[in-house]
Amino acid sequence: MPQHPLPYKELLSEILITEEQLQTRIAELGAQISQDYAGQDLLLICILRGGVMFLTDLMRAINIPHAIDFMAVSSYGVGARKSSGQVRITLDLTINIRDRNVLLVEDIVDSGGTIASVLDLLQSRQPKSLRVCTLLDKAKARVSDVPVDYAGFVIPNKFVFGYGLDLDEYYRDLPFIGVVDLDKFTPTET
Ligand code: IMP
Ligand code: MG
Repeated sequence: MPQHPLPYKELLSEILITEEQLQTRIAELGAQISQDYAGQDLLLICILRGGVMFLTDLMRAINIPHAIDFMAVSSYGVGARKSSGQVRITLDLTINIRDRNVLLVEDIVDSGGTIASVLDLLQSRQPKSLRVCTLLDKAKARVSDVPVDYAGFVIPNKFVFGYGLDLDEYYRDLPFIGVVDLDKFTPTET
């Protein structure tokens, strides 16, 4: 049983991206994606659990027909703050992506290890196209060179939470992106 989590304000050092800034940018991304995929089939794949808030708002900002599916992955090496670059699928897709236009929807690309690994796997299933849409891009933290086709915000290399991103599974519900006060919270795993 985890300890009772603190109110988020006790772990927040600053709000990095406000709710209004998020929603404005997501509307822009949705418009861009709608234009880029106009007249084509589109399948959004969300990586659980961090991507869910972004997915549901992005869907409402996309004005062309699209389908969704989910997958979940976990990094090898439990407890490691840095992901090892190898992922294990804990929940697979239900839809066959062969010949589909797939857009992978992620909360954050950090080292890039997770996305690189997921892209390899999805590519082997022969989609018609495969692109990446991430809300947050910690560009300076990149280790694996992954193509990011759509990025909401390029952010500094700070540990953030809220709007899908968790601290030990809590605070995903916050409508903004906050920076963690590292004097009050020590990240243990991603
Ligand atoms: P990567 O494999 O290093 O790109 O890490 C991607 C995953 O690490 C994301 O899907 C998140 O689950 C997690 N992650 C990376 N940075 C943060 C952060 O600042 N806050 C919360 N989770 C993060
Ligand atoms: Mg996480």
